[in-house]
Amino acid sequence: MIAIRRVSRLLSSAASTAVPSRPPGPCLPSIPQAIWDKTETRLHLNRQNPLGQLKLRIERFFSGRHRDEFVMFDNIPPIVSTKSCFDDLLVPHDHVSRSTSDTYYVQKDQVLRPHMTAHDVPLLKEGHRAFIVSGDVYRRDTVDKTHYPVFHQMDGVRLFGPSVSNEDVLTDLKETLENLAQTLFGKEIGVRWVEGSFPFTDPSLELEVYWEGRWLEILGCGELRRGVLDNSGISSDHRGWAFGLGLERLAMVLYGISDIRLFWSNDSRFLRQFQAGDLHVKFRPFSEYPATQRDVAFWINKGATVHENEIHELVKLVADDTVEDVRKIDEFERDSLVSNCYRITFRHMSRTLRKEEATAYHEEIKRKIAALLPVEVR
Ligand code: PHE
Repeated sequence: MIAIRRVSRLLSSAASTAVPSRPPGPCLPSIPQAIWDKTETRLHLNRQNPLGQLKLRIERFFSGRHRDEFVMFDNIPPIVSTKSCFDDLLVPHDHVSRSTSDTYYVQKDQVLRPHMTAHDVPLLKEGHRAFIVSGDVYRRDTVDKTHYPVFHQMDGVRLFGPSVSNEDVLTDLKETLENLAQTLFGKEIGVRWVEGSFPFTDPSLELEVYWEGRWLEILGCGELRRGVLDNSGISSDHRGWAFGLGLERLAMVLYGISDIRLFWSNDSRFLRQFQAGDLHVKFRPFSEYPATQRDVAFWINKGATVHENEIHELVKLVADDTVEDVRKIDEFERDSLVSNCYRITFRHMSRTLRKEEATAYHEEIKRKIAALLPVEVR
């Protein structure tokens, strides 16, 4: 087995203490305690979990490909500055990823990282030239079978000296990631490159694999922009590439896992299937318990706005992993008032949910929506 060079230490003094369970400053929507609780779990470090196994396999790929060149980071705490998360990466000021409806702000200038790319500039500044950085990332988002407010990403960076041309960088990037896809999906896997768009890379690319009859995007990457390298203190004759991939997405495709909540469950019927650490396991879904649906309808007060993500977050806050899906099923306007209706699907992961439980969740969700948002529940 190939030895993995691993560096495990803290990013900065600001983030070096245990994650605080305190409310953020005024004006910022607070981060739910359930989200803070998840910062402790670090599924990517759990070797019993398919996410942990996949992460190890990818690290092993990079250690083997360029022996000892890549340094591995997997234990950097999730609070990062808006500077390293956005400014240093040339993310425009009006980019949606900066909004409080997408990103969890701890303070005005600190967030729970929404992507692992937040560590690229700090690690380059520290002098690292090739690294893989893995960890838990946080986004306010919709709730369904493929989205969860916490997920896991792996980012990689490789720098090159003056003798390497821009074309060479792209060739190396493509070869490396095509090879990674073959390692994960098998030698015969069909791959194609499509144009991507990230503020920090130019050109930006996405890699797709042809898997079970469909083209699926598995990662984003590109050549790091000169501005990002300048912000990292890298001299002008150097170039580099970067990529980022989502572990849940990859594991769901690779193993055929249909519900993202399963990664968080301790259900042995799930974990048992990945015990051998084999990449070619096909997940055999166990029978699902029945689903129960409930609708919530409300008028949005005149002049107010309600972001869809806020509704999803409130529902999740109340019913946690018993919620399988939330979706807006109706929206209309009357006398300049807007009405929204959301359908919530409850399904317990390991038992049948009783009608009274679903009703209790439903009532509590309506109460919270009415109490916390500028709406009139109908
Ligand atoms: N950070 C990007 C994302 O979260 C992925 C990415 C990383 C793209 C590095 C290009 C380079 O989607």
